[in-house]
Amino acid sequence: MATSTATAPGKAILFGEHAVVYGRAAIAVPVTEVKATATITDAHAGSGCTIAAPDVGAHVQLSTPQEDPLALAVRLAIEEAGIGEEPDWQITVRSDVPIAGGMGSGAAVSAALVKAVFSHRRLPSHRQPDAGTVNRIVYAVEKLHHANPSGIDNTVVVYRQPVRFVRGEPPQRFEIARPFHLVIADTGIASSTAAVVSDVRRAWEKDTKRYEAVFDGIGEIAETARRAIESGNIDALGPLMKENHRLLRMLDVSSGELERLIAVAEEGGASGAKLSGAGRGGNLIAAVERKNVEAVKEALLAGGAAGIVVTQIGA
Ligand code: PMV
Repeated sequence: MATSTATAPGKAILFGEHAVVYGRAAIAVPVTEVKATATITDAHAGSGCTIAAPDVGAHVQLSTPQEDPLALAVRLAIEEAGIGEEPDWQITVRSDVPIAGGMGSGAAVSAALVKAVFSHRRLPSHRQPDAGTVNRIVYAVEKLHHANPSGIDNTVVVYRQPVRFVRGEPPQRFEIARPFHLVIADTGIASSTAAVVSDVRRAWEKDTKRYEAVFDGIGEIAETARRAIESGNIDALGPLMKENHRLLRMLDVSSGELERLIAVAEEGGASGAKLSGAGRGGNLIAAVERKNVEAVKEALLAGGAAGIVVTQIGA
């Protein structure tokens, strides 16, 4: 029986979360140490299409109501691939991207599913849908997770490249002149992006002027950071993370646990750290010189981090 597999990485927003929803620039990178993997196997004729996600205990039939993100990703991909009726497929999706942690788990799962469908369709390579098509489908599924996604998660996960992202503009790749290390630590506290984004929206409606000024500051930091990365000035990243985090705190998206672990990372030798993603829980990222990576990792684990991913950004 034919089997097809596709993967998609996790992601980390380096600078610019939340402000990116309001049109400011943000930068993000793929994190290939974690990934989602979708496998499609042909099933018996007449059995229909089932999708299993054992890591979250989900098991859905393709014909399930539209609201299920796994079914929606597969359904949109099947339509795009020109498959007329429900195929007899058994689909399994596994992921070690932390769920509800700001590492793009939803987008990674959707991207792996969509790519697996296209690969299983066995179209000749020149008729395989391009990354833009995959991205459009994954974005449509992201809208189920939260009503007003900026599109940064799906873009990084689908293109697998460092991206400067401004809402409504084509994503721009940026160069990493000198590799640098990130230590990503999970607070272990699940956070709902939808809830945090809508809290920020309510606060912005009440105090638009102040929030717009904070978003401007965050957008400028993201642009400064991108230029620093492109020119190899990686020593600038730690201080820029501290400054970005200070502004995120003003948006009320940090939490006691994030503050505590950020302090642990900085005391343990990180040059700077900040929350990454929606905040309130989820992950923090720390810019760490290579010689300090082990010490920072140990300090965070001893300090109660639920999981650590160390990644090198750039070759
Ligand atoms: O927590 P995540 O990985 O879903 O990232 C959310 C990033 C935000 O800027 C807060 C929202 C968005 O749509 O860009």
